[in-house]
Amino acid sequence: MTTVFQDVAVALVLNGQSDPHRAYGRRQREIIDLADTEAAGREITNWPDYRPTPLVSLPGLADSLGFDRLWCKDEGQRFRLKSFKALGGAYAVLHHLQRIAGAAAGQPVSAASLVAGEARPLVRDVVVACASDGNHGAAVAWGARMFGCRSVIYLPRHVGEARRDAIAALGARIVAVDGVYDEAVARAAADCRAQGWISLPDTSAGGDNETPNLVMRGYSLLAGEILDQLPKGTLPTHIFLQGGVGGFAAAVVAHLWQSLGPRRPKVIVVEPERAACLAASAAAARPTRVGGALDTVMGCLACGEVSRVAWEILQDGVDAFVTISDDAIAPTMLLLAEGVEGDPPIIAGESGAAGMAALLAIAVRPKVARAIGLAPDSRILTICTEGAIDPASFKRMTGRPPLACGAGRSG
Ligand SMILES: Cc1ncc(COP(=O)(O)O)c(C=O)c1O
Repeated sequence: MTTVFQDVAVALVLNGQSDPHRAYGRRQREIIDLADTEAAGREITNWPDYRPTPLVSLPGLADSLGFDRLWCKDEGQRFRLKSFKALGGAYAVLHHLQRIAGAAAGQPVSAASLVAGEARPLVRDVVVACASDGNHGAAVAWGARMFGCRSVIYLPRHVGEARRDAIAALGARIVAVDGVYDEAVARAAADCRAQGWISLPDTSAGGDNETPNLVMRGYSLLAGEILDQLPKGTLPTHIFLQGGVGGFAAAVVAHLWQSLGPRRPKVIVVEPERAACLAASAAAARPTRVGGALDTVMGCLACGEVSRVAWEILQDGVDAFVTISDDAIAPTMLLLAEGVEGDPPIIAGESGAAGMAALLAIAVRPKVARAIGLAPDSRILTICTEGAIDPASFKRMTGRPPLACGAGRSG
């Protein structure tokens, strides 16, 4: 394990702006506050098949790395979409449909009446649209189907067939964009303006932030689940969060910051080295775009531009930004699937494994580990943000089908 992870390229940007005693601010509360998270939770926990995803304890891996505790929240078990993204995109669809249906009916329309079909005639001609690296589009298409409207999803060049077919199977019309994620975002926004469709971006370039805020409020439910699931009286000292445009990390940070104040864990945001717009923004102390092909096996993190609303939270709430090279991912996926020393297996997709991959690479670099305060008494939380959504890709990466490989004990 050591040799593999020693070869991984790791770069660290420590964030001079973070301060555990800084209060969660007024501007940040406008984007997402605890009442917003509770409102999202009241809706989402009533959707068919909702249940919290497991917080898996990994004592074998913690021991082998020399840390006190290690957990992995397994979002591969989130609804049937296998990604936390289901929480955000579908919540935004619901919010907009309730607004439209409520205006048409002249009275509030419940999510239940949309799910049950009674209110569907009010929304069935509505079209919601977004760009996606895969999972946000699946979430919007799934929400459109659950609540009864139509969806159009814009996929950038690098999104593979399996993800595309999964979104189409949810009833969406797919538009293939011959460009990177940020180009798909621009194309989706332009078509929405021209067609009168509802645009549901998971990222904000400034301007109207309503939908990116809603999306993050939906994600933040998972941070509340984590606080409920941790052993009583035990908090993590560190949390590793994947970064694409930053919305996911910002949602989790916002919730932990407000709920725990100075007791919140140190936050480490993890990005692919070739799509590290958050690390670049931290280094420049302002939102900074990165260009190029953004090619990485961590396809859902292949974003060149930060979400402005996410940055409002991340700029003060993140302790360190880490970038890793692609060679960290396959061994991490395999290690998680096999389970170390009887740990329960976790089936992670490429982007889902990135947080743990960064931890494994840092654990064999004492200087980097010290710089972020990792020590033998550390209690570390990682999030597997997606399962094996593309089974063929999982097999290519690990040499195995996406089934639990190890003997692993459960719990
Ligand atoms: C599996 C997975 N992990 C992490 C992320 C990062 O989320 P964000 O783009 O909000 O930073 C994404 C985004 O699509 C994702 O699909």
